[in-house]
Amino acid sequence: MAEKTVRPIRPEDFEILMRMEDEVFGAEGEAVLGPYYVRLCCEFFQDSCFVAFDGEVPAGYLLCFIRGREAYCTTLAVAPAYQGSRVAFLLLRALVAAILDRCDACWFTVKEDNLQARSLHAALGAREVGTRDAFYGPGDRRLVSRIEKEGFERLRARFERMGLVAPRAVAAPPAEPRRVALGAA
Ligand SMILES: CC(C)(COP(=O)(O)OP(=O)(O)OC[C@H]1O[C@@H](n2cnc3c(N)ncnc32)[C@H](O)[C@@H]1OP(=O)(O)O)[C@@H](O)C(=O)NCCC(=O)NCCS
Repeated sequence: MAEKTVRPIRPEDFEILMRMEDEVFGAEGEAVLGPYYVRLCCEFFQDSCFVAFDGEVPAGYLLCFIRGREAYCTTLAVAPAYQGSRVAFLLLRALVAAILDRCDACWFTVKEDNLQARSLHAALGAREVGTRDAFYGPGDRRLVSRIEKEGFERLRARFERMGLVAPRAVAAPPAEPRRVALGAA
């Protein structure tokens, strides 16, 4: 099996994402993202959106948006042939490494019965903080979960131990005041 890789999305990934939307969400009878939204992600949000490949084969994608120090991960999708193969984990790992230094919180929304997604969010330290009704339309009830600042600190420690991010630069201690001999030379 070829090596699995994850990289930030690029403009030329537009078709790949549109196709995977159909494979993952369309095939389940769910609404799919429109071309304007996907185009916007590919052109403008390359620093927080990622695509995964198995060799040359697209295997999944993750879309996330940052405002100030807050991130909102809207979509995590793994192509059916790759579900259960840790592609989701690789995508989330890329996201966390990208936002650790930039954000103090990251939120996710998920359907209550989506236990895989809930389990992945929980593994990152996200806590369920409430529900939203009619989120994407009538009857669409979503759980909202968030990684808060302490969660990010724990993730940072874990990622540093795993060598996935560079240790945070420690501020140098203030220099000892130098004694300057006053007095006549
Ligand atoms: C949600 C999705 C991204 C998860 O990817 P995946 O490859 O299927 O997930 P995994 O098999 O790695 O499972 C993720 C975790 O859920 C756990 N899990 C799987 N089925 C579970 C169940 N029925 N109950 C509880 N946990 C479950 C797994 O054990 C795993 O946890 P672990 O890593 O600690 O073992 C993928 O299923 C998908 O694309 N689904 C359709 C789109 C979607 O629903 N996206 C999320 C909302 S935008």
